[in-house]
Amino acid sequence: MANQFFKNQLVEWYKSRRRDLPWRKTKEPYKIWLSEIILQQTRVVQGLPYYERFIQNFPTIFDLAKADEEQVMKLWQGLGYYSRAKNLHHTAKKIAFEFDGVFPKSYKELIKLKGIGDYTASAIASICYSEPCAVVDGNVYRVLARVFNIEILINTSEGIAYFKDLANNLLDKEDAGTYNQALMDFGAIQCKPQSPDCQSCIFLDKCLANSLKKVSELPKKAGKIKIKKRYFNYLVFIDNKGFTSLTKRVEKDIWQGLYEFPLIESNTEISKEELIEKLSDLSVSFSDVCVLSEKHIVHKLSHQHIYTQFWIVQTEEILNYRIDIKDITSYPVSVLTANFIKEFWF
Ligand code: ADE
Repeated sequence: MANQFFKNQLVEWYKSRRRDLPWRKTKEPYKIWLSEIILQQTRVVQGLPYYERFIQNFPTIFDLAKADEEQVMKLWQGLGYYSRAKNLHHTAKKIAFEFDGVFPKSYKELIKLKGIGDYTASAIASICYSEPCAVVDGNVYRVLARVFNIEILINTSEGIAYFKDLANNLLDKEDAGTYNQALMDFGAIQCKPQSPDCQSCIFLDKCLANSLKKVSELPKKAGKIKIKKRYFNYLVFIDNKGFTSLTKRVEKDIWQGLYEFPLIESNTEISKEELIEKLSDLSVSFSDVCVLSEKHIVHKLSHQHIYTQFWIVQTEEILNYRIDIKDITSYPVSVLTANFIKEFWF
């Protein structure tokens, strides 16, 4: 299929089918940046309320820059990959305080910022400044692999370079922002990962994957990553004055910067006797221990599965990291911990 035809058809499709999204009413780089960072974590429907909440709380980059980190993490809560929120805050401070709030105006300058990689720099540069940079996200891989029958593995350095090149060759250099968003919307709405409605597709008779009956096979990915199993034993201390205990995760690991109940991580599942032994080793005094549920909660992240048990530990008096149970929902926590708090207390 000729590049010009692909581009024209796609942009025509977008004119009538584009999604009406708040960040499409503006070219303010702050808002485009924020939306793109959120959309790397989740789909549009789930990302919208996060975007609205961020804009409500931080209407400008100065508001975000002045916020404290905990407030930013709290608003990000549930999106996962918390280093994105940290980087967002870091870069907001840099732009607000070092560049007087003026966003860098080219791909080359944008990509120097923390948390802004090829994808985000291309999206901001093309949408806000019409710079001819192709965006390649999961939608783009899927549409291009199918329409042009490309079998190169998308998660290899060869695949990444190949698709970037192809996307740049197809790009509408006059209006790269519209073209990039058209391609992403087309992937999200029409050329969906599972059971796309090919019969209603504008590329029906041009799509190579469709004529070769390979739609469900493309795009191709290299073998799955190995999932690591971890065992988390959370100690939910409760005293008779209405206090519990939360600690902040500071290590370079998942959920850095979030709060959680004191944690004992083990290599395997542990019994109540083993837990009591560990509590004794740590000189923790308690009057009673019981597990919330014998069955583990399995919290699945992309590279690890967290087998979790919450142990309710009755104690006389909480001395360390003591917090009032009434205040517990104001702390930024992982979804795993938030679900527990909701079920157990609120
Ligand atoms: N997914 C991520 N960013 C997007 C955008 N700007 N338009 C459509 N889908 C997207």
